[in-house]
Amino acid sequence: MAKSTVSVIKADVGSIAGHTVVHPALEQAAIKVMDEAKEKGTLVDFWVTHCGDDLELIMSHTKGVDNSDVHAAAWKAFEKATETAKDLKLYGAGQDMLKDAFSGNVRGMGPGIAELEFTERGSEPLGVFMMDKTEPGAFNLPVFKIFADPFCTAGLVVDPKIHDGFVFEVWDIQDHKKVRLSCPEEMYDLLAMIGAKSRYVIKRVFPKKGVLPEDEAVAAVSTEKLALIAGEYVGKDDPVAIIRAQSGLPAMGEVLEGFSFPHLVSGWMRGSHNGPLMPVGIDDAICTRFDGPPRVAGLGFNIRNAELVGPIDFFDDKAFDHARQKALEIADYMRRHGPFEPHRLPLADMEYTTLPKVLKKLEPRFEEIK
Ligand code: F6R
Ligand code: MG
Ligand code: MG
Repeated sequence: MAKSTVSVIKADVGSIAGHTVVHPALEQAAIKVMDEAKEKGTLVDFWVTHCGDDLELIMSHTKGVDNSDVHAAAWKAFEKATETAKDLKLYGAGQDMLKDAFSGNVRGMGPGIAELEFTERGSEPLGVFMMDKTEPGAFNLPVFKIFADPFCTAGLVVDPKIHDGFVFEVWDIQDHKKVRLSCPEEMYDLLAMIGAKSRYVIKRVFPKKGVLPEDEAVAAVSTEKLALIAGEYVGKDDPVAIIRAQSGLPAMGEVLEGFSFPHLVSGWMRGSHNGPLMPVGIDDAICTRFDGPPRVAGLGFNIRNAELVGPIDFFDDKAFDHARQKALEIADYMRRHGPFEPHRLPLADMEYTTLPKVLKKLEPRFEEIK
């Protein structure tokens, strides 16, 4: 049987009353294009949703990663949604559509992309995780915990199928280089890099020799850097990830455990502030207070012959109430710092925001300190 591919491609092409939430009409416009792509045989199945102001296209097919027809369908969906957004005069209409002409791949054009191609197992449980008001490095901590931390994933200790650990592919998104590190052996080296989450991001996770093919990634994260594409601040590159689970991988409950701690991430208001990442159901994936706080939503599917069975809204559950409560307490605490670091990002990370323009104005007034 052909391998199955799940492609998650997302873009902020406009939202209601600020950078809050996608208008339902945009989802409808995208669904229409996705339906056509399904009819044409480009897609086997799809699910359209949102996380905050990001329109999320979850597509399944048998065409592999980086397929031009699949990417073209996504681009067209964003174009149509942009037309609707402009028509409704929504805020930030077409924001992430940084290029005019599509030329075979949406990579580097504005949208964020995560794709996984794999041989379907007897049953194939998979989670799609979507964040708003933060950056790709926000996935470093949960993905590390899921695949390398025995205090999160019990299977790393007790299940012989995953006891040997996993291989992490890390991208240096500043220098455009990548490296693979094997855990647990190289865990401290991995942490040395991925703790610097604005630069080093986990791009993919691979299994070690065992029950699953070693060359098929089991997790993938989008790593687009909008600022580096556009050269100036055009909103944060709110990331998405796909994570496969169970039999030879962390259990889905271990995957979700990775999101139970609302860690501090960069983004929030004007892409310039640290704040807690709050796990929420899709209905609560609305960015309000101070354009946030940053959110993560998750949908679970079973893949059956490249078809999407589901979804389940993972964080729409009482088990995450404490994480949300903690996130709200942290939000209060961080907000009270106002414009002070470490609520506001360090200067180096403010380079692509509007702050340098403000500081530049003061330049002529500076005098030497004798
Ligand atoms: C964060 C984000 C928002 C905007 C803010 C100002 O990723 O997109 O917080 O930065 O609402 O938006 P403008 O400059 O468009 O008024
Ligand atoms: Mg936005
Ligand atoms: Mg967004």
